[in-house]
Amino acid sequence: MTTPPAIEFAPEADAELGGLEGTLVVFTDGAGGLGTAATSLDHAMGGALSRAVKDGAFKEKAGRVSAFEWPAGLAAKKVLLAALGPDPDPAAARKTGGAIGAKLGKGPVTVATAGAAGEETLAQVVWALALRLYDFDEYRSAGDDEEGDENGDRGAPREVTVLAADADALARASRPFAALAEGIYFARDLVNEPANTLTTTEFAARIEAMQTLGLEIEIIEEPELEQMGARALLAVGRGSESPSKMAVMKWMKGPQGEPPLALVGKGVVFDTGGISIKPSAGMEEMTMDMGGAAVVCGVMRTLALRKAPANVVGVVGLVENMPDGRAQRPGDIVRSMKGDTIECVNTDAEGRMVLADCLWHVQETYKPAAVIDLATLTGAVIIALGHHNAGWFATDEKLASAFAGAAEAVGDAAWRLPLGKKYAEQNKSRLADVKNTGGRSGGSITAAEFLHRFVKDETPWIHIDIAGVTLLSSASELAPKGATGWGVAALDRLVRDRYER
Ligand code: BES
Ligand code: MN
Ligand code: ZN
Repeated sequence: MTTPPAIEFAPEADAELGGLEGTLVVFTDGAGGLGTAATSLDHAMGGALSRAVKDGAFKEKAGRVSAFEWPAGLAAKKVLLAALGPDPDPAAARKTGGAIGAKLGKGPVTVATAGAAGEETLAQVVWALALRLYDFDEYRSAGDDEEGDENGDRGAPREVTVLAADADALARASRPFAALAEGIYFARDLVNEPANTLTTTEFAARIEAMQTLGLEIEIIEEPELEQMGARALLAVGRGSESPSKMAVMKWMKGPQGEPPLALVGKGVVFDTGGISIKPSAGMEEMTMDMGGAAVVCGVMRTLALRKAPANVVGVVGLVENMPDGRAQRPGDIVRSMKGDTIECVNTDAEGRMVLADCLWHVQETYKPAAVIDLATLTGAVIIALGHHNAGWFATDEKLASAFAGAAEAVGDAAWRLPLGKKYAEQNKSRLADVKNTGGRSGGSITAAEFLHRFVKDETPWIHIDIAGVTLLSSASELAPKGATGWGVAALDRLVRDRYER
């Protein structure tokens, strides 16, 4: 398991910066001049830092980070000069932290923050830095890392020391962020993990291991799913050697008797398309088709780590979509747990069949105050929004504005798309109550309308299609290329804003 770097907070006054090894990070002040730590290093460095800021290049440029390699006069091998810009907002703080993280290499890191900004802002910087240091090196053999990045460095630094004017205050402000970083790392690992390792059984084991954090875990196996009538979910997994499962994670530490927020995730550990098999080019990316389930697990982990006073239940459907003699066929009709019959016209539209039963189960069992599902559901959402926004749908305006605010506050970019009866009509089946695709046009919306059918009228609901934002082919502000953990921060924030007492 990949874990965030250990971060230590210490008073800046005690530090002798010139004698520290590894990488030193210092800041400009809000006006584009040198901050206190930067000024003290500048003398030893013969004025190199003040030369860098003299032309005003750092002014109002949040996120600008310059590297000084092998600086004369210091024990450090690298100094990073970072600009937060004037009055940095959380977005500027994240951008700066991410930019610092992207330029760090191996070895110890010391970040001297005194005077750079207030504790809340600095906590964001440190969090962003920790997120950007994520490195999934599970399958890189030792000795295989000579190449390194542009600085010749490879792998995340293990120790980060943050020096601050008030180290205790910054440590306190950083605590909830540490829980969030762990949740995001956990989600990213699940997404990056290949499908021969992350089988449905291994996924369930990783969920079960979270019991030690105080989460209540229930793994529902095939025979019981059969009894419950979860035939839509089971149909998808029929072609796989890995048994289908539904996993439930309960965190009920809010007011007793208050209905929980329900989070539901698509956990297709690999999506070949089934008998409606996908083209081979790019199919390896379908190891990320459990991204929705990963986000749900990451949020539940965060809530447990920070002991959130809230009632939240997470449900994920864990299946593998494979072609086989026992696999479901195009044209098959199954009865879902709700009782509606589904004509499976395309076995590659499997996510919605899995979610149909998960949504129904969570509503019947927990009578949730609201349901939010996340799924790498459609390629169509990538056509609509690219890789820069998740697409989301909502049936309740209060929940919608709370979610929009939470996502915006943490920087998880998302764009709302419409629901509508006309779209739902595209899913009409000649033989059954509904079919599992509505044709090419409006593909993300007809998928959402399929799910809508399995949401009770009285349940406020949001569906988030994360197909475009779960796995990226290049590095982003807060993540190296690969899994992003998109959504963990937004949902953690939503819980904090709306479901905590
Ligand atoms: N898992 C895919 C969607 C997907 C595509 C996720 C690309 C991430 C990147 C989903 O199960 C799927 O195959 N959807 C089909 C639906 C179609 C058959 C109606 C699609 O989008 O092509
Ligand atoms: Mn599919
Ligand atoms: Zn899929």
